[in-house]
Order: sequence, then structure tokens, then C-alpha cells
Amino acid sequence: MPVPTLDALLTRAKEHFAVSFDKQPTVLAAAPGRVNLIGEHTDYNLGWSLPIAIDRHTVIAAAPTDEPTSTLIAMDVGESVSVDLTKPTHRDAPAWANYLLGVAKKMMPDDGVNTLAVMTSSVPIGAGLSSSAALEVAFATALLGLTGEAMERIELARRCQRAENDFVGVPCGLMDQLVSSCAREGCAALIDFQTGDVTHIPLPDPDTLAILVADTGVKHDLAQSAYADRRRECEQAAQALGVDSLRKATVSDLLSHKNSLDPILFSRAWHVIGENARVDMAVDALKAGDLPAFGRLMHQSHASLRDQYEVSCPELDTLVELAEHFTGHVYGSRLTGAGFGGCTVTLCPPDIAGELTNYLQDGYRERHGSTPTVHHVTPGCGAMLIEPE
Ligand code: GLA
Repeated sequence: MPVPTLDALLTRAKEHFAVSFDKQPTVLAAAPGRVNLIGEHTDYNLGWSLPIAIDRHTVIAAAPTDEPTSTLIAMDVGESVSVDLTKPTHRDAPAWANYLLGVAKKMMPDDGVNTLAVMTSSVPIGAGLSSSAALEVAFATALLGLTGEAMERIELARRCQRAENDFVGVPCGLMDQLVSSCAREGCAALIDFQTGDVTHIPLPDPDTLAILVADTGVKHDLAQSAYADRRRECEQAAQALGVDSLRKATVSDLLSHKNSLDPILFSRAWHVIGENARVDMAVDALKAGDLPAFGRLMHQSHASLRDQYEVSCPELDTLVELAEHFTGHVYGSRLTGAGFGGCTVTLCPPDIAGELTNYLQDGYRERHGSTPTVHHVTPGCGAMLIEPE
């Protein structure tokens, strides 16, 4: 099925809004999903990463209401809730509403407003492409449109992250929300998580570089608890090395603690220190137009995530191995996002993208019995408010 364009999503949300509420929306907001090219599990260690926003969006059509409650409609799941956004409290279900309540609480801590809102999305849900960050950032952007307030994008991203940490209870870092709010079209976002600085690094245009995102379709149960475990292990490793975050640790620091440090903590820190260095080298490779060098760093990143950080799984490894064994020239492939399922990202010349897609799907099906969806994505821009016509 073709992926709906941003315009098509906006039209769909606007029309549904008009039919549902018998008036036009006053605000249209959109925010993208993301794919991380390199720099994985570095954000909560205050390191660096290099994600792109993708041409898949969540859009929200909204208008203020004087009613004591907001009516929020999620078109794609056919659900609607009535909640008071001025006094957000947890709800048992549906899950998506808690993201919105959390965002309302963080964006409007004092005087909230109630709203009518319709949302729809082309970001695959639960595939590790940050559908939740896209929803949070789109809603935060819509709320700014409704209240007329201005806010720095980094601050908006931080509030969305806090909504997810404190309200929804997912201990994510800042990467997803920040790239969804700040990305620039055609560029990867080099993020420094200590300073919050974002540097836009131009990518080769889609005639030269294809970005394939292959979805294993699996999400192992371990995902959430293992993520929290990794965060804790990194904190323990930093403490043992005498630094306040692993960003500040060097390879020689780590090696000098090799005998005293728990081997698991050693491996986790080894990954983080190496991954930060790989982001730096990957940016140099991009600037030099050296895609094969960029791709080699992606392979190293995957191997480190698999062997040192232990967040891969057989399904992700299969897709990466297939990309490595393909006879055409694939630049690089690695798991993207938290791991334990979700997607790989693969860079290749556009003329082999079709054949590679078939090869990944056939090879994966042979080993795991299902056909992965392969999304061909392009680097898009971050969140925006669009004038309703
Ligand atoms: C998830 C989290 C991010 C980041 C990645 C791993 O996507 O939401 O904050 O930690 O995992 O790099």
C-alpha cells in the first residue's frame, strides 16, 4: 500500500475533524518519526547520535473548546476519548491517550486548555520508528498553536521526553523527541546530548543514497526491562570509572579499570565509548562523501550492540547478515533504535534498492517464516504548524 503523503494525512485529519465537530480546525500540526543512522544507546549517556527524521508523520487537526473536557480522536485505531487536559490524570486505556495527557501536563503545567483534536499517522506503530515521539511532539506543537505560545524546540523535546518518562513511565532518552522536533530536510541531526546542540549534516540526495528500513515485525518482551537495565549498568560503570556520565570516560580509563570492573559493566561502557567515537568518525565520513567508510562504521556499531551491549536479537542479526552478504554494494546495515526487535537501517546505492529489498525479504522469510516490511525512507524536516486553509 502506498504511504500517504503529509498533504494527504492533513486533508484526512481536516475532513474527519469537520465531520466529527461540525467546524473547521484552527490548528494543524505535524511531527515525523525517526531512524537513527548511528550512535545507539548514547543519548542517556550524554554522548552523541546521528538520527534522521523520516518522511512518515503524525498529524493533528485541532481547535479550542469551551467545554470542560477535550475530545481526542485517534482515527487510525478508531478510538475517541473525552478527558480534561487542564487536570491530566492517568487513564487505564487506551495507551495513546496517556501520551497526550502527559504532554498536556508538561506543556501546560499551570493553565491548561481543552481542545478538540483528530490525529492520524503514517509512522508505523510499535516498529521502533518513534511513533510515540511523533505523537508527543505533534501534540505539543498543536498545543503551542492553540495557546499562541512560543517555545524553543529543545525545550519542547525535553518536555515531551519528561511526559514519556514521568507520566507514561518509559525511561527513554531525548533522541527521538529532539530529532522529531528539530530535524532539517535532507540532513542528519548530529546531537550532542550534554549541550543539547544539534548540527545539521547534509546527506547525499536520494538519487545517490537509498535508506531502507526493514521491520522484523517482532518486539521481544525483554525490551522494556532490558532498556532500564542498560541505563542502570551505564550509571554503575560511570560511577566505577569516577565520571558523572560515560561521555566523559575514555578507552584508557576503561582499560585501567579492567581488572576491578564487573565484566558486564566493562562491555556496556566499551560499547558506549566506542559508539561515541563512531559517531564522530561517521560525521567525518559523511562530510568527505565516503559512504563506504560510513557503512563500515554502521557494521561495527551493529556488532558492538550485539556483542557488547547485548540488545540485538536473531531477527535483527539475520537482516544485517543478509545485507552484508548481498552481492551488490551495500554500504552498511545495523539495528536502529532500542533493539530487541524493531528495525534495521541499511544504506545502499538507489539502483540496487529494489533487488536488495527482495533479497532481505526472501532471506528473512526462509529463516523466520514471515516477510519483513521494508520502508524506503528519505530524510525529512522536524515538527511544524501548518496554516489551515
Ligand atoms: C529508544 C529511546 C531513545 C534511545 C534509543 C537507543 O529509541 O527512546 O532515547 O535511547 O532507544 O539509542
